[in-house]
Amino acid sequence: MNQPDITVGFIGLGIMGSNMVTHLQANGYRIVVYNRTPEKAQGLVDRGAIQVSTPAEVASQSTFLFTMLAHPNAVTQTALGENGFLDALPTNTLWVDCSTVNPSFSRHMAAESESRHLRFLEAPVAGSKPQAERGELVFIVGGKTEDVESCRPLLELMGQRVVHVGDHGMGISLKLVLNHLLGTSMVAFAEGVALGRALGISQEVLLKTLIGGPVTPPYLVGKQTKFATADFTAEFPLQWMHKDLQMVAEAAQEIGAMIPLSELAQEQYQTAVQQGLGQLDFSAVYQLLNEAT
Ligand SMILES: NC(=O)c1ccc[n+]([C@@H]2O[C@H](COP(=O)([O-])OP(=O)(O)OC[C@H]3O[C@@H](n4cnc5c(N)ncnc54)[C@H](OP(=O)(O)O)[C@@H]3O)[C@@H](O)[C@H]2O)c1
Repeated sequence: MNQPDITVGFIGLGIMGSNMVTHLQANGYRIVVYNRTPEKAQGLVDRGAIQVSTPAEVASQSTFLFTMLAHPNAVTQTALGENGFLDALPTNTLWVDCSTVNPSFSRHMAAESESRHLRFLEAPVAGSKPQAERGELVFIVGGKTEDVESCRPLLELMGQRVVHVGDHGMGISLKLVLNHLLGTSMVAFAEGVALGRALGISQEVLLKTLIGGPVTPPYLVGKQTKFATADFTAEFPLQWMHKDLQMVAEAAQEIGAMIPLSELAQEQYQTAVQQGLGQLDFSAVYQLLNEAT
């Protein structure tokens, strides 16, 4: 299959971005990539992607531009910093930011795009490394309907579902709600197991009984081996969960919402980062809370 008229630019080839691109490649799109650490692009280049050395060079060749970057600062630097892509995108090009940021930042990027006669969508994702590998992400989108429709075929190659929540800021708002639940539920689970162990129940019995049962979230099934083997190799780095709960706090403060549970969970991720666990999976907060038992 060949898609001769469309070049997809992709910036940010970490755990998520590198896996998302493979589905576009497999479907014949011409792909131009940039990553701050260039070596991470090698696997994609071996399969035919064109690697360039600045974000601006990606932009000048792109029909659609995707970003999948760590945090708002990374997006700002790549979009508006030296050799940034925003001033290099051809008029009317659609930029789709899949990074987890916060609603006010996303609205700011929409305004920066519009002032340059560009189109913008936020399309953060639900799902982690395994879903990115299998093309089974859920895109939670904010922006104009016509822009969602124009890139829907690309989103549907990388994901199994596209949820258009509303205008700019609304997709990322829902993503933050999801990560509030993900982050707090992991801490609650870790604390529950620690309590059980302190009461004399073995870890094995606790994991077997709780995971997959009616009171724990289904995503824990995919984390069971990590708890059992204490191998917390990252699928979703803990430092980004900490960042996401910081953004939940900022978003809540902007609108005066109360999030006491999220603040407590964020403290645990903060401690984990301080103890050097930031690059492990976010489930390593389990290790933090269980180390004393
Ligand atoms: N992993 C998950 O399960 C998951 C799930 C849903 C959403 N997300 C979100 O998706 C985004 C990417 O996550 P990930 O897991 O793929 O993280 P990752 O593996 O750490 O990749 C982060 C990417 O951002 C780039 N980056 C970081 N700081 C930068 C800067 N200052 N300037 C330019 N580039 C910079 C990194 O470049 P280098 O390679 O040079 O470091 C890399 O390409 C994050 O917003 C995360 O919250 C992740």
